[in-house]
Amino acid sequence: MTKTVLLTGGAGYIGSHTYLGLVASGYDVVILDNFSNAQEDVPLRLARITGSPVKLHRGDVLDPVFLTGVFAAHDFDAVIHFAAKKAVGESVAKPLDYIQTNVGGFVNLLQAMDAADVRRIVFSSSATVYGDTLVQPIPEDHPRTYTSPYAYTKISGELILEQLVAADPRWAVGTLRYFNPVGAHYSALIGEDPQDIPNNLVPYIAKVAIGELPRLQVFGDDYDTPDGTGLRDYIHVEDLADGHVLSVNALLETGQSHTVNLGTGEGSTVLEVLRAYSDACGKELPFEIVPRRDGDVAVLTARPDLARQVLGFNAKRTLDDMCQSSWAWVSGQLRNDPKP
Ligand code: UD1
Repeated sequence: MTKTVLLTGGAGYIGSHTYLGLVASGYDVVILDNFSNAQEDVPLRLARITGSPVKLHRGDVLDPVFLTGVFAAHDFDAVIHFAAKKAVGESVAKPLDYIQTNVGGFVNLLQAMDAADVRRIVFSSSATVYGDTLVQPIPEDHPRTYTSPYAYTKISGELILEQLVAADPRWAVGTLRYFNPVGAHYSALIGEDPQDIPNNLVPYIAKVAIGELPRLQVFGDDYDTPDGTGLRDYIHVEDLADGHVLSVNALLETGQSHTVNLGTGEGSTVLEVLRAYSDACGKELPFEIVPRRDGDVAVLTARPDLARQVLGFNAKRTLDDMCQSSWAWVSGQLRNDPKP
């Protein structure tokens, strides 16, 4: 029988790609979004790719009455919770906003789920829960620590779920710790669309490539990495979406909770990413070396073994795929065949 999944924040960057992965796997998917960080036309674009209209509830996880109405309107088998704030710098300036949405809104959602007898949830966590560590690649049993209010809210979410599972064995939870998601859907109809000047590397390079920003500032070239620039575990957003499908499958099939890294286990430096993006867009992209960014670490890479063992997850797409799909998206090169 078809299973129904609610995606909170399903119109956002990772949510919209996961929507497509779930639909392709035969799920009935419902989106809840307040469009605070999503484009209004994402549901139409998703409908264009899948050929079916999107079931959408427009509203906020901070509104318990709205949440109760959403759960009354459908018979959900599971929820994937993306609806949260995610800018580290903003969280330092506005910690209460982050705690309100990422913790308060999350508790509202869990209460609505419990009241509706829906106790399968996939939670968007982040490698940020590992703090600033020299242990690389990072295994899931590495201690958690926070270096920002954003990280604090992700650790809080994980701890809330752990207490819920301990208190009531009917709950099953998939906690997914993302490394650095980049790239866009193969169709080039959806992708990451930052409204302001991007903080993250690939969206910033994309704006340089389309001529909206003059040059990339490379934050430091004196790290202990092959070329001195920061090294991260970039994962294609379509691989990340596949990880969510596998996580929901596992929760519904086994009822077993899991906490896993979603990364490739490989790292690329800033200059390697810039090189791959230059190749993708066919032009040299200007850059300058500037001092290190506060709070950055030299290296952040996942140990991917547990996700492979527990979920059968393998990131398939390369750095070139990530840069080519990002470039196709930002330069508007629509590709009709939805899959390569
Ligand atoms: C950042 C967040 C992290 C969050 C992740 C995903 C910080 C300190 N960390 O991780 O908590 O989970 O995004 O959203 O904000 N770089 C440049 N120039 C730029 C931008 C980035 O050189 O204009 C470098 C950085 O120094 C880093 C690498 O590119 O070495 C990746 O940076 P970024 O994309 O911001 O991701 P993280 O810092 O890994």
